[in-house]
Amino acid sequence: MARKSRKNSFVIILAIVTFLATLYHHLHQSPSLTSARFLRRPLETLDSLPPPPPPPRPSLLPLQQQQQPPRPLSGVAVLIPDWEVLVIVPPQTPLIPPLENNYICVYPDKSSPPAKFAGKLPFNGGYAFKCEFPASNRRRLPFFQPMLFCAEERENLLSQPLPPPKELLRWNFIVYDSFTTENDVVLFVKGVNNRQGATRPPSDFRCVFGHDSSTAIKTPVTSASQEVFRCLRPEMTGSRPISVTIEIVENDRRAVIIPSLAQYTPDNERTIMQSEKKSLICACTMVYNAGKFLREWVMFHSKIGVDKFILYDNDSDDDLAAQVVSLRKEGFDVRTVYWVWPKAQEAGFSHCSLYSARICEWAAFVDVDEFFLSPTWLDSPHPAAHMLGSLLPKEPDLERVGQVSIRCIEFGPSNQTTHPIEGVTQGYTCRRQADQRHKSIVYLPALDHSLKNAVHHFETRVGYKTLHVETSQAIVNHYKYQAWPEFQAKFRRRVSAYVIDWQQNLNLESNDRAPGLGSKPIEPPEWSQKFCEVRDERMKVLTKMWFGASESTMAWQSA
Ligand SMILES: *[C@@H]1O[C@H](CO)[C@@H](O)[C@H](O)[C@H]1NC(C)=O
Ligand SMILES: *[C@@H]1O[C@H](CO)[C@@H](O)[C@H](O)[C@H]1NC(C)=O
Repeated sequence: MARKSRKNSFVIILAIVTFLATLYHHLHQSPSLTSARFLRRPLETLDSLPPPPPPPRPSLLPLQQQQQPPRPLSGVAVLIPDWEVLVIVPPQTPLIPPLENNYICVYPDKSSPPAKFAGKLPFNGGYAFKCEFPASNRRRLPFFQPMLFCAEERENLLSQPLPPPKELLRWNFIVYDSFTTENDVVLFVKGVNNRQGATRPPSDFRCVFGHDSSTAIKTPVTSASQEVFRCLRPEMTGSRPISVTIEIVENDRRAVIIPSLAQYTPDNERTIMQSEKKSLICACTMVYNAGKFLREWVMFHSKIGVDKFILYDNDSDDDLAAQVVSLRKEGFDVRTVYWVWPKAQEAGFSHCSLYSARICEWAAFVDVDEFFLSPTWLDSPHPAAHMLGSLLPKEPDLERVGQVSIRCIEFGPSNQTTHPIEGVTQGYTCRRQADQRHKSIVYLPALDHSLKNAVHHFETRVGYKTLHVETSQAIVNHYKYQAWPEFQAKFRRRVSAYVIDWQQNLNLESNDRAPGLGSKPIEPPEWSQKFCEVRDERMKVLTKMWFGASESTMAWQSA
C-alpha cells in the first residue's frame, strides 16, 4: 500500500544516490567527503542531481571550516491547529531514512524541535513532516516558517546564519490539494466558502496556473461549493508540475491570491486511460487509529461485494499501516490517502468521489464502525459478492437513481468493558430502538458537478433521485457507543462530525452527542449498559455463520 510503496521509492532513490556517491568516492578517494556526507546534501530533484563537486584541495584548515553552510530541504510550512506545523517537501526530494528521527525543524530563533515524518500527500502533493511551533515563536507576528534540516546538522546550525525566513502559511486560508480529471482541475480550498453557509458565485474566482504572475495562465472557475473549486484546464503542455491556485476577483479591487500547496501537471490525465477495470462498489471512509477494527470491516464487506477500500487517514499512529499491508498481501484492495486537513471531512468525501469515480461505479460512504446488513442474508449460509449490489438499481441511468440511502441503527456497549476480541459484530448486540440518520451509496456518474455533500450524503445531478431503502431490506449496524475505552479514544480525537463539540458545553441537546454524557471524558455510571433498548443479534448470528473459524474464533482473528 501507500506506505509500503513510499518506502520502496525511498529505497530506490537511496540506492541511486548511494551508488553515485560511492562512485564519486571511488573516483576521487577523497578522505573528507564520505558518502554519507554527500548523501546529506539537499538535492532539489533527481533530474537536477548536481555534478559531484571538484575534489577538495589539500588544506590545513580544520574540518569544521571546510564544511559548507548547511542548506535546508526546500519546502513550505503551514500552521495547523494545536500549535503544530506541517512542512511539505516536493515529491522528488531525496529523503534519508529513518524518517522518524532524521529531521528537525529549525526556526529563525534557532529552536529546533524534531520533525516527525507524517505521510505522503495524495497524488502530486509531496511529503509531509510535522513539528511543534515552539512557544518562543508565538509571541510576535508575523510567524515564520521553520526550515527542515537533517538532525545531525543541529550543532553546526547554531553558529551559522540561516537563509531569510518566509512567513508561515495558515491552514485556514490555503489551497491544500488538487485533483486533475480529464476536463478540469479540482482544487481544495480553505478559507473562502464556509462549510454550510453562503457560497460565492464561481465568477468571483479565477484559477491561476504558474508561479510567475507575468506568465501565469488564468482559467474560469466552473463551480465553487464548500471547499471544492473546479477550474477549466489551461491550454498548455508539459510534464513538470507547476503551482496552481485561486484568485478572488472583486470588482475594482486588486485580486487576492490564495497561498497554495497544490500542483498541476499539464500533461497528466489528458485522456483518462482506463488502466484499471471499474468495480461495481468502492468504499470511501475517514479513519483515525482504526487498525484494530479494519480487518473485520474489510473482510465482511469484501465478501458482500465491496471491491476497493479507500481510507482517508487522518494521521493515525496505531498499526493501521501494518494492517493495510497485511490485508493487501492477502489480496484485499485497500488504499490509503493521507488526509490531515482540519475539518475536511466533506472535502475528503468529495476527493474520494473523484478518486473512486475512476475505479468504481458506486461508492459507499461509511465508517469503519458501520456494517451493511440485509435481514434477508440470514437465509444464506455463505456470503456472496452480489449481495450488496442487489440493493442497488441494475440500470441507474434508466431508473434515474443517483444515490441509495440506508437507515442506521446505533448499538450500545452491550455490557462490554473492553474491545471484544471476536470483533464488534460479535461483541455488540444491544441497541437503541429508533433508527437514526442514514448512509449513502452513491452512483458516481450521477454526482452533481459541485461534488457538494453533507456528511455521507451527496447532491446528485438534476433528474436523479435518491432511493430510500426499507429497513426490512437493509440497514447499517453502527457500533457507535462501544466499550468505554474505545468510545473515549474516539471522542478525544474527534474524527467524525458528531464529536466535534465534545469538550465544549455547546449543543448539549444535539443529536450528535451521546445522550446524557455531558462534556467530560469521564466514564458515566453504568456506561456498559447504556443505549440498550432492543436485543439485536442478527449480525452476530450472521457473521458467526459466515466467518466463524471455530467454536470461539472468527476468521478475522487469525492475523
Ligand atoms: C483530523 O484530526 C484532527 C485532530 O483531532 C481534527 O481537528 C480534524 O478535524 C480531523 N480531520 C478530519 C478530516 O476528520
Ligand atoms: C448486561 O448485564 C445485565 C446484568 O447482568 C443483564 O441483565 C443484561 O441482559 C446484559 N445485557 C446484554 C446485552 O448482555
